[in-house]
Amino acid sequence: MPLDYHIFVCNNQKSEVGKDVAKALKIALKKQGLKNFLVGGQKRHSRVQTCNCLDVCKQCKKGPGAALVIYPEGTFYGDVKPTDAAELVQKHLGEGRPVKRLLLE
Ligand code: FES
Repeated sequence: MPLDYHIFVCNNQKSEVGKDVAKALKIALKKQGLKNFLVGGQKRHSRVQTCNCLDVCKQCKKGPGAALVIYPEGTFYGDVKPTDAAELVQKHLGEGRPVKRLLLE
């Protein structure tokens, strides 16, 4: 099944924050009905997974959060914490607008 959203979370931090962020995103997708959903009668699917370093930040090894990227847009976010997951899912996936305060530019 083709994916409509694919989220990769960097898992290179010394802490387990990358795993925790991925877990929180999966829970948020389910709670908000965006893991498997229908648009115009067509099945849509979202997937979250951890990955090796995305090499997009200088701070997340020291900071408390994780970096992640959401496809198909290729939008990078940084210093994401588990508590940001619900907002990311709601705004980026649900409403189609980025969470500006977390954008990596
Ligand atoms: S430590 Fe992997 S993107 Fe920052």
